[in-house]
Amino acid sequence: METRSVAIDGPSGAGKSTLARMAARRLGIIYADTGALYRSVGLYALRRGISSRDARGVAALLPEIEIEMSYDDTGCQRTHLRGEDVTDEIRAPEASLYASDVSAIPDVRAFLLQTQRDMAARRDVIMDGRDIGTVVLPNAGVKVFLTARPEIRARRRCDELTAAGRDVTYEDVLRDINKRDTNDSSRAAAPLRVAADAIVFDTSELDLEESFSGLLDIINERLYGENDAAV
Ligand code: DC
Repeated sequence: METRSVAIDGPSGAGKSTLARMAARRLGIIYADTGALYRSVGLYALRRGISSRDARGVAALLPEIEIEMSYDDTGCQRTHLRGEDVTDEIRAPEASLYASDVSAIPDVRAFLLQTQRDMAARRDVIMDGRDIGTVVLPNAGVKVFLTARPEIRARRRCDELTAAGRDVTYEDVLRDINKRDTNDSSRAAAPLRVAADAIVFDTSELDLEESFSGLLDIINERLYGENDAAV
């Protein structure tokens, strides 16, 4: 059976994972978080003591890396690295930094490409990342480029981290967001860019509920609407 997919790309802190998870639940389909794959590779390199900037060293680890995704009753993704559930550990700050670096290594991107396509081939998904609409699923039924101004993204991320008990300042978070934007858009391998057929959805002036409702409208119209786009 042909599956349907929704690709959501955009810069860090745009709310991709929150909105994609909410939309997946509403539509009764799977939310596929591709950042978890890069984070798992980063975590493995970290554990093995290989620098995340050592492209050859990281590439040499790839044959040892086996990542499996499972989904609980609510459709939430759990990530397993060589059989171990690393869902929580890959969110640690060191794993985030490692993920960002290893995601710029072409061998890593090539290694994870098929895994991502397999995830979308098995079932209907909403998949978020940086290159889903441009590289991973060029035939996705809906492509959304979710964005917001850097200052807004920094404010939201800062509130989220503060609520989670982390001691951060708005200035630090904004600097981090600007740095990640530059990294993600300027890297040679699959840089962050808007797919030609993506709908750009800027949530700078919208709250969570308005963003969610706007995203659902886009998905419903493109995926299930009268024109019934090819998936
Ligand atoms: O979305 P995230 O923060 O969990 O992603 C972790 C890192 O992986 C982030 O620095 C960007 C990178 N990434 C990527 O390059 N391509 C993707 N499809 C998903 C994530």
